[in-house]
Amino acid sequence: MAEHANLNVVGQAPLRPLLKWAGGKRWLVPHVEPLWEPYSHLRLVEPFCGGLAVALGLNPQAVLANDINPHLINFYNQVKAGLVVTLPMENSEGLYYEYRQRFNELIRAGKHNSKEAAELFYFLNRTGYNGLCRFNGKGEFNVPFGRYKAIKYVREFPEYTDLFQGWQFSSVDFAQLDVKGTDFIYADPPYDVEFTQYAKDDFKWDDQVRLAEWLAEHPGPVILSNQATERIVELYRELGFELQFLQGPRRISCNGDRTPAREVLATRNI
Ligand SMILES: C[S@@+](CC[C@H](N)C(=O)[O-])C[C@H]1O[C@@H](n2cnc3c(N)ncnc32)[C@H](O)[C@@H]1O
Repeated sequence: MAEHANLNVVGQAPLRPLLKWAGGKRWLVPHVEPLWEPYSHLRLVEPFCGGLAVALGLNPQAVLANDINPHLINFYNQVKAGLVVTLPMENSEGLYYEYRQRFNELIRAGKHNSKEAAELFYFLNRTGYNGLCRFNGKGEFNVPFGRYKAIKYVREFPEYTDLFQGWQFSSVDFAQLDVKGTDFIYADPPYDVEFTQYAKDDFKWDDQVRLAEWLAEHPGPVILSNQATERIVELYRELGFELQFLQGPRRISCNGDRTPAREVLATRNI
């Protein structure tokens, strides 16, 4: 029946991402869904899961969600274990910097996988500037206060806890993932940006090539999304992927240019 068609495996409408995350792909779900539909009995592997917009939107039975960011994955694992945030939360600059300092103390003490770190991570994500997750050269979280007018904090995530029981989370470089030949891979790496200056932890061109070659070896279905730069298009075309072009959401750049970015969906074995 049509009204039940969109319910997820625990009987709810698709859940929204829990966090703000740069490069979130909720807008892409309607484009990925028809490609995924015939394979929806397979395990979905998201090597770059970020805010989970696609995994939450596709309603898979089984998921392996990975991201190299250990704080993000600790948060999801704590939600899977039934996280209830008991930390007092309020949209205050003073409290933000106090919690940011405490979060960095936990990182220094090697306690970044704790429940307390997950609670702080949630608060910092909601309250910090644009939901960014950035670290300085010393490995300290250094995102400034966000200055939002109002923030809706959530303390319990029971629908996500139920859903995540069938999901597995990991935090490794994508190439270390234990992927089975029958898995369906949806890969959404950091965008290729052709003329960026050097930054310490960037996903560099070598990583884009390493990813494309890794995806090309997968015997099961694969979807890759990225910015349609000339070199990305050429890379995936040469590896025999089929390409589809889309207009991304409108973005306002620093010079006021509202041109939407052109995106590419590269597919194989679909
Ligand atoms: C564009 S974002 C993914 C956004 C996600 N699709 C969403 O809808 O929210 C890319 C993600 O790749 C992760 N990442 C960067 N380098 C990685 C690597 N070598 N292996 C795995 N994940 C990586 C980043 O931490 C980031 O969360």
